[in-house]
Formats: sequence, C-alpha cells, structure tokens
Amino acid sequence: MKTIIEPFRIKMVEPIKLTTHAEREDLIREAHFNPFLLKAEDVIIDLLTDSGTSAMSADAWGALMRGDESYAGARSWFHFRDTVKDIFGFEQVIPTHQGRAAEHILFSVLIEPGSIVPNNTHFDTTRANIEFVGGKPVDLPCPEASDLDSDFPFKGNMDIDALQALVATEGPEQIPVIMVTVTNNSGGGQPVSMANIREISRVARSAGIPFYIDACRFAENANFIKRREPGFENTAVIDIAREIFSYADGCTMSAKKDAFGNIGGFLCTNDAALAHKERNILILTEGFPTYGGLAGRDLEAIAVGLREILDENYLDYRLLSTQYVVEHLRDARIPVMAPAGGHAVYIDARRFLPHIPPLQYPGQALAVELYLEAGIRSVEIGTVMFGLDPHTGVEKPASRDLLRLAIPRRVYTQSHMDYVLEAIGQVWDRRNDIVGLKILEAPQFLRHFTAHFARLNAAQVPSRGNL
Ligand SMILES: Cc1ncc(COP(=O)(O)O)c(C=O)c1O
Repeated sequence: MKTIIEPFRIKMVEPIKLTTHAEREDLIREAHFNPFLLKAEDVIIDLLTDSGTSAMSADAWGALMRGDESYAGARSWFHFRDTVKDIFGFEQVIPTHQGRAAEHILFSVLIEPGSIVPNNTHFDTTRANIEFVGGKPVDLPCPEASDLDSDFPFKGNMDIDALQALVATEGPEQIPVIMVTVTNNSGGGQPVSMANIREISRVARSAGIPFYIDACRFAENANFIKRREPGFENTAVIDIAREIFSYADGCTMSAKKDAFGNIGGFLCTNDAALAHKERNILILTEGFPTYGGLAGRDLEAIAVGLREILDENYLDYRLLSTQYVVEHLRDARIPVMAPAGGHAVYIDARRFLPHIPPLQYPGQALAVELYLEAGIRSVEIGTVMFGLDPHTGVEKPASRDLLRLAIPRRVYTQSHMDYVLEAIGQVWDRRNDIVGLKILEAPQFLRHFTAHFARLNAAQVPSRGNL
C-alpha cells in the first residue's frame, strides 16, 4: 500500500480552534510578529517543536495511574531504571526533569575552564551548558551536511578527520568528553550512521576520552540506520539501538522526544565513581536519586514510552510521514533540506524569499506568513536565532536562514500535513509580495524567544480578507 496510515486509532481528541486570516492579522501583530508570543490556542497546527508535545498512548495514560509516588525507592523508579538499562545498556541511570538538567550535571563534573567538547552539532542547551561551566563547544559536522540539496543519507555524521585533527592539536587532556547527537537536531534532524558512531568511538577510545551520545532521538536514528545503512536491513531496531550505545561510555537524554514524555530525561554512565559525583549534584538541584525531579507517574509513562517508540511500524510511519511532506515540497520546487530528516522539515527561507536580505530575517518573515496563511506555527532557525554575538553586540547573517516545521509525535494526521502543504504552496505563490522585518526590541541572549518585530513596509502586504 502506498498510503501511509497512522498506526493508531484516536480515542480522545482535543478540539482545534479555527481562526480567520483577519483574526490572525490582529493576533500576530499583538504577538509582535513573533510566533513564540502567540497563545497556543490561537494556533491551528503547532509545529513549533516536537519536544514534550507527543500524544501518550492508552498504556502510558494507564501507567500514570500506577505511578508510585514514594519519595525513595519507588516501584516506578525500578521500572524506569530497568527499562533504560535494558535499551541503553549503561550501568548507572540518573533521572532528571529534562535533557538540559542531565547536560548540566554531566558538564558540571567533567568540564574545567578551557575544556573543549566536540560534537557533530551541539544543540543550543548543550552548547549553553558547556559554556556555562567555562568549556568551549566545537561543532564538527561532516562536509556533506553543508549541501542542503544532496541526498547523502547520513548528513548527521561527524567529520572524523576534523575530530582526529582536533584531538591531535589540542591534546586529549583538553577534551574531557566527545559527544555525538542522534539525530542531529541543529543539523536538520539528519541521522548519524553506525559506521560513523564506531569511528568516533575508536578515536575517543584510542585517545582515552569518554564518548557520550545525546540520545534524544535515538529511535528515529536507529530506524534510519535500518532503512539506509547496508547490513542493518534485517536487524531489529532495538538491537541497532543497543549497538549504538555499546560504543559509548554514557548518554544524555530528553524523554520529551523519543520516549513520548511530556517531561523527563536522564543521564547514564558506566563509571560508578562519576555517577556518585553526579548524584550528589542531582540531590542538590533535582531531587533524590530515585526520582530526580520527576513524579513517579512520569517515570512510569517514560518507561512505557521507551518501549513504544521502538515499535518499528510506528517508526516507519514516523519517518515516512516526514518524508511525505519533504517530497511534496520538492515536487513543487519549494527549497527544502533533503533528504527528509526524522522529526522536522526545514525550508530554506533564503532561497524561498531571495529578495529579503538575511538582516531582514527571511525565516522570521516566512514564519509570520505561514501563520497568517493558515494558523501554522513554526520557528526560524537563522539570523534571528544565531545572528547576534551577545558578547560584542555585532549582528551578521547566520550561515543559513531556515524555517523549521517540527512534527509532534502521534499528534497530527496526514490530512493535517496536507493542509500544511497547501498553506506553504499558497505562501510560495505570493512570495514576491512578502516583506522583511526589523527588530524593535530584543534581549542580549536567546533573543528569538522574546524579540519584538515590525514589518519593514506594511503598505506592500496584500490584504487577503477572511478565510
Ligand atoms: C538534541 C537535543 N539535545 C538536548 C535537548 C534538551 O532537552 P530538554 O528540552 O528536555 O531540556 C534537546 C531539546 O530540544 C535536543 O533536541
């Protein structure tokens, strides 16, 4: 069958409030042309993030009722710990309230001022947590990642030559940990191959440096390996996942992604002495080591979600439904990152709106237009997010201006995606009339969340009337 069906039935629904184009004109103006500042109920299809936005299953909702809320040694903790150990294979499991808490604890114990941490591409919280304790994050994406159009199957790979050169020039004592992010969120949700993971592990082990995996989307990455890497066609995804982690010394995880959690995370290691130090910080900042900032019911739901995410029918549907959107955009010649990644679709806003220079924020302008067109919320990944150096105050174009449409897990159906495609097509048809934006006010750090914008020339924007 060619039709991709959602491999679940819908038992409970959440109504979507429909708005008109005229209403959205007022709403986006009140939100200062920043989709982050919209009320969620004023959004028809919310593609801001796939983090914490998943739909839980009947089993996970049932598990919530089994949550053991004892302070110490709760039954739910053992369920959670044993599930994590079974899939990820590490000896020590440290629960946290979300992924960035795991990062903060790990880097607090591993990093000294001046330490260098390589990664394929650091996610922004990973980068910020390394910098917070005085370390220097270094991104080493593979060269193929810079070509948005090529169909190279593992654009999330790390550049192994660059990693070796970094270890040789800086020396292993300067590098307390080597990381790789699967899939590579900041690099377009692109997967990392098993061959690349083995190579990173080889470099790390021969230099005596611990190797950690940012495991947020580990199941999507494992399924990409099954579908794209020769030799894995007949291996179960859970075994691919186990092999991935067998090459590492530990991992950080946000359960808000590939565990269907609305909250949660964890940190793993095989090093008992390190785990002891980490648990001491955990007690200070998160909670007792058997709950670490989570309710017993959350631990239960995550344990169920970690099993469900490895269902291969679900994973096939997940990857194929993202691919469905990317392929329809490519067929319409709309510039989009290829091949399809796992959790999101990335439109190349600079090529979509070539008449808007980067410092007039084409990605942000496109996010605004997509909201106006059909109530779709997306996020700019470009000059608004990365263009300002917060230390010098100097602004320059980011390397790319992308619009990310992140797809929450099990939340939207194919008809929702058809609606998104139709809306993008309509914005594409009137792209020459779209104007850029200017920033009216913005904080020094992480300005994209709260910046206020104005249209550069509102008079040029065509009136579209009601839907
Ligand atoms: C690759 C990656 N690492 C870490 C994090 C941080 O996780 P959390 O949002 O749970 O703190 C995220 C969240 O989006 C992510 O995508």
